[in-house]
Amino acid sequence: MLFFFVKCCLAPRTGPIPRVHVGNPATVLPGRFEKAPGVKGRAMQNQRTEWTESAPQYSGDSLEIKGYQVMQRWEDGYMHRLAEVVTSRGGHVLELGFGMGISAGFIQASPHISSHFVIECHPEVSAMAATRFRQELARGRMILINAFWEDVVSKFRDASFDGILFDTCPLDREVEFFHFLPFFEAAGRLLKPHGVFSYFSDEPREISADHRAALQRAGFKKIGFELYDVSPPAECRYWRHDTIVVPIVKK
Ligand SMILES: C[S@@+](CC[C@H](N)C(=O)[O-])C[C@H]1O[C@@H](n2cnc3c(N)ncnc32)[C@H](O)[C@@H]1O
Repeated sequence: MLFFFVKCCLAPRTGPIPRVHVGNPATVLPGRFEKAPGVKGRAMQNQRTEWTESAPQYSGDSLEIKGYQVMQRWEDGYMHRLAEVVTSRGGHVLELGFGMGISAGFIQASPHISSHFVIECHPEVSAMAATRFRQELARGRMILINAFWEDVVSKFRDASFDGILFDTCPLDREVEFFHFLPFFEAAGRLLKPHGVFSYFSDEPREISADHRAALQRAGFKKIGFELYDVSPPAECRYWRHDTIVVPIVKK
């Protein structure tokens, strides 16, 4: 059944899926910008290369890449809540960005889901995921794709997922996040009609009018949220607030 779903979901829209490594994170996708190397494309490719060639620094409580704070343990409870939201419909869940695997662990712990696709661009982070979730990968309960989401989400069929969690990070800066806005359109396409989408929001109190408008343009009509209380430590550079939004976004 799962094999059937994976096959249907990933069935190529225009041809075979090139260079996507499912369950084998040893290789990095060169990326679609190689094919059209305009100035922007080359700059983007350089950013990607710098990112994937920087060794991740895991301390147990945090993850840094390129010297940027990427993920920290104080986000545990928040990640738990995001995972609860995106697994609330059961079924097939798509997650973008593995990081420390905190949300991935909570998603895997859900008794309701039947599959969990993870897209992670960094080869060493993907290797960590492959080690930690070896059994889940072997059982097909997790499907790991070592790639930039921008290169592979077009390969999924429309309405493939019951839940989607987006938590990647900018590759070129540490504290401003708007990188999720370009994903909204794909989220609208990939989510089933009854599904739920959530993301690390970068908003401390509410979903702003701009973000609401972008979600509406992507086809979402029920745009709700909860506030989650957090206590980031003083050394955290990317979050200074005591609450954070948990988006609960539906069609
Ligand atoms: C904030 S962390 C994810 C944290 C995760 N939710 C957790 O609970 O640990 C962001 C991750 O997204 C990955 N990433 C950044 N840009 C990406 C992209 N365009 N496609 C796929 N992964 C990306 C980074 O390598 C990093 O591992």
